[in-house]
Amino acid sequence: MAAEPTIEALYLEDRTFPPPEEFRRNALIADAKISEEAEADWEGFWAKQARELVSWSTDFDTVLEWKLPFAKWFVGGRLNVSYNCLDRHVEAGRGDRVAYHWEGEPGDTRTITYADLHTEVGKFANVLKSLGVEKGDRVAIYMPMIPELPVAMLACARLGAPHSVVFGGFSSDALRDRINDAEAKVLITADGGNRRGSVFPLKPPADQAIAEAPSIEHVIVVARGKNDVEMVEGRDHWYHELMRDASPDCPPEPMDSEDLLYLLYTSGTTAKPKGIMHTTGGYLTQVAFTHKYVFDLHPDTDVYWCAADIGWVTGHSYIVYGPLANGATSVIYEGTPDTPNRDRLWSIVEKYRVTTLYTAPTAIRTFMKWGPQEPEQHDLSSLRLLGSVGEPINPEAWVWYWQHIGGGRCPVVDTWWQTETGAIMISPLPGVTTLKPGSATFPLPGIAAEVVDEQGNRFEKGGGYLTLTRPWPSMLRGIYRDPERYQETYWSRFAGRYFAGDGAKVDDDGYLWLLGRVDDVMNVSGHRVSTTEVESALVDHQTVAEAAVVGAKDETTGQAIIAFVTLKGGIEHDAAHGEMLREHVAAKIGRFGRPKTIIFTDDLPKTRSGKIMRRLLRDVAEGRDLGDTTTLADPAVVDEIRRRSQTSPTEE
Ligand code: WTA
Repeated sequence: MAAEPTIEALYLEDRTFPPPEEFRRNALIADAKISEEAEADWEGFWAKQARELVSWSTDFDTVLEWKLPFAKWFVGGRLNVSYNCLDRHVEAGRGDRVAYHWEGEPGDTRTITYADLHTEVGKFANVLKSLGVEKGDRVAIYMPMIPELPVAMLACARLGAPHSVVFGGFSSDALRDRINDAEAKVLITADGGNRRGSVFPLKPPADQAIAEAPSIEHVIVVARGKNDVEMVEGRDHWYHELMRDASPDCPPEPMDSEDLLYLLYTSGTTAKPKGIMHTTGGYLTQVAFTHKYVFDLHPDTDVYWCAADIGWVTGHSYIVYGPLANGATSVIYEGTPDTPNRDRLWSIVEKYRVTTLYTAPTAIRTFMKWGPQEPEQHDLSSLRLLGSVGEPINPEAWVWYWQHIGGGRCPVVDTWWQTETGAIMISPLPGVTTLKPGSATFPLPGIAAEVVDEQGNRFEKGGGYLTLTRPWPSMLRGIYRDPERYQETYWSRFAGRYFAGDGAKVDDDGYLWLLGRVDDVMNVSGHRVSTTEVESALVDHQTVAEAAVVGAKDETTGQAIIAFVTLKGGIEHDAAHGEMLREHVAAKIGRFGRPKTIIFTDDLPKTRSGKIMRRLLRDVAEGRDLGDTTTLADPAVVDEIRRRSQTSPTEE
């Protein structure tokens, strides 16, 4: 029986962008050979990457042991991640290469070479040792975007002590729960960090968390914010004081390929956060592979900038481990894009001659809202490649990014992956793939993805559930101390397949288009409509910067489409404008995709990592009290939207 499309494919985007000739000429991969090789023998392919990109102190004997859903990669191999990120570059005579150009929000800067980083990490690893941290102990990290954050992570990796980085914007409760779940022994934090022109305190919420986290024996505090903090005698120590006399000499601990490298908690919106486990050899192999080939890394000449926070998986894999394993030169910026002005990112690109920029659709839509005059003030001609991650990118935002940031010469790689996948899974190879704006295109070499219907039957074409059909080196090894939840969450919905929770469609040419979380799919008069496609149709209108769409209960149609729309800077709106947008959507994707109501708003509720919280918008649209708002970045936004929604007319 042929599989029936489960989510309708409505949005047609037919612009295509082949790799620019000049880009292709210098690209690391410029033909399909690597993909063919990977398809012929995917385990052999990964083994080859592991030996090429990673240094092992003991070679592995078995590539993969797979007892669904539990994988072991590169069994028998031993290695140290911090050795791979630091020592081997210094040993090869590349110690003077810049690892990080760091820029603080107030404008202070630091240039950190591989040799500097190697010394700092060795010293800090000795500091941790002196406080009793041993191989296998968990260490919690709660810090701003300062160089001591990667130093702390690498020092943990050097000792074989798994870290658990908790994003610095999280509350004390979130920190406490994560520390307790991991039973972390040491917490590394700072007095405060800089954000939007002022200092936000970190030590006070850390103190609050520790009051209910009995496993913590020591707290190390970096002086950054210079805000007043209390130090508890015997428990709390200043980083700079401990570092003063520490020896830089700390031999890296040879770790088993399957030893835990880190935990990273994903906040399930309703349930307890899940401690996603990433191990050593497979993780490093895939982050190094993807960072090298998706970003076409030329380490001697590129200046690479991933503008995410290290507290998220994107920062773990593509600010710390991938770039350092590959000996790249990166930029790290501490603050927000609008401090002191809305051109801050572009001034950083110009200053460091950034070649490769990796950011999120939410940021791109914000730049669209602010307008092209901000990037136009700067020379962005150093850029040669752009990347996107975190949400589906609307075709119009993609084209804006390509045109106004990339100057029409830089491929845009839309990279799909998750905290759980550890590294990029679906993405163009920029020297090979003909791009379609809004499509993440194809699985990378070695990766297999399929779209299936409700019953798990594969589609050749159409919309349904995105699944992964074979294990991959950087896959999560489980949920910390909860193997049943691991099995249940990811491996039970479709037999033999990993189900990521995302919808996707396959087009006539086999391209994959991500359609958002399946929990967000709307049911309008029996049509299963993806929020992403309606949002993209709205953003396609020249006046719209950003849109969030939800289905609200409706007596006639089951669900009705409610759209929250942010216009580009300076554009006024009225009822006629709403009507025009509704017609635009109807023309773009069909009448039943037309929103019933459009609510104009200056901002949308987002998580701290920039994803739109449609669940809260559903609460607003259905007139309910708000559910859990702990992950909301700016609570004032929802109050404003509520006010607006009470005064917006509903169209019949
Ligand atoms: C979404 C971030 C569409 C998706 C690395 C996924 C994307 C979730 C894309 C994981 C993309 C990420 N296109 N959707 N290129 N990248 N997503 O764990 O819903 O913070 O399941 O990892 O973000 O988010 P996470």
